[in-house]
Amino acid sequence: MSMYEYLTQNSEANSSFNLWMKETTKEWIVPVLKTYDFSKVRNLVDVGGCSGFQTAMILQKHPQLQAILFDREEVVSEANQEMSEEGVASRCQVRCGDFFDSVPPGGDLYLISRVLLNWDDERALQILNNCRYAMTNSAKLLIMNFILPNKGVSRGHLLSSINLLVLGGKTMRTESEYYQMLEKAGFQSPKLIKTKGMIDYIEAVLV
Ligand SMILES: C[S@@+](CC[C@H](N)C(=O)[O-])C[C@H]1O[C@@H](n2cnc3c(N)ncnc32)[C@H](O)[C@@H]1O
Repeated sequence: MSMYEYLTQNSEANSSFNLWMKETTKEWIVPVLKTYDFSKVRNLVDVGGCSGFQTAMILQKHPQLQAILFDREEVVSEANQEMSEEGVASRCQVRCGDFFDSVPPGGDLYLISRVLLNWDDERALQILNNCRYAMTNSAKLLIMNFILPNKGVSRGHLLSSINLLVLGGKTMRTESEYYQMLEKAGFQSPKLIKTKGMIDYIEAVLV
């Protein structure tokens, strides 16, 4: 079974996984979020946003923002609690669903953080296509991930790549592999935003 099928059937493992996401978000992602300009964003959709720590941190820092947190049914109950604890529940709709079926409409920024890395190209493309169907022409997509350079991959990256291959059937993607996938899904003008940390961004638009 896939990792997420296993987590769906094992609530203890599911909670541990969510906690792992929260802890690594603190260490890897929250510092990186400071480098993205959210000032013009009004409605964020966090696709596969897990139990919501990252969404909550963004909402706390940007009071103009409303958000939709979207994840699996087994995850969103924890997300409601997280939003309340972080004092942002009134600005966040927590919705459950399957991003292989559809993604909620209504956002002007679609964030996909550490999601595509779990899936092979066919599945990852399906998620990107569903984001595109949900997006209006003026909305933006923001992929946040480990993004390998096109040349000169480190040993550490290769080792993490093998782990991902075992878990999700795909190694880490290079910048140009992301661009190819984005083009197939109908996105344009991809732009890499490098950070000093492990996680970088690619922003892309529809027109
Ligand atoms: C590696 S975690 C990343 C979580 C978060 N975005 C972050 O960066 O901390 C991937 C997320 O995708 C969610 N997910 C997996 N399959 C899904 C599906 N079919 N529909 C919606 N969400 C899904 C998982 O529950 C998990 O929260």
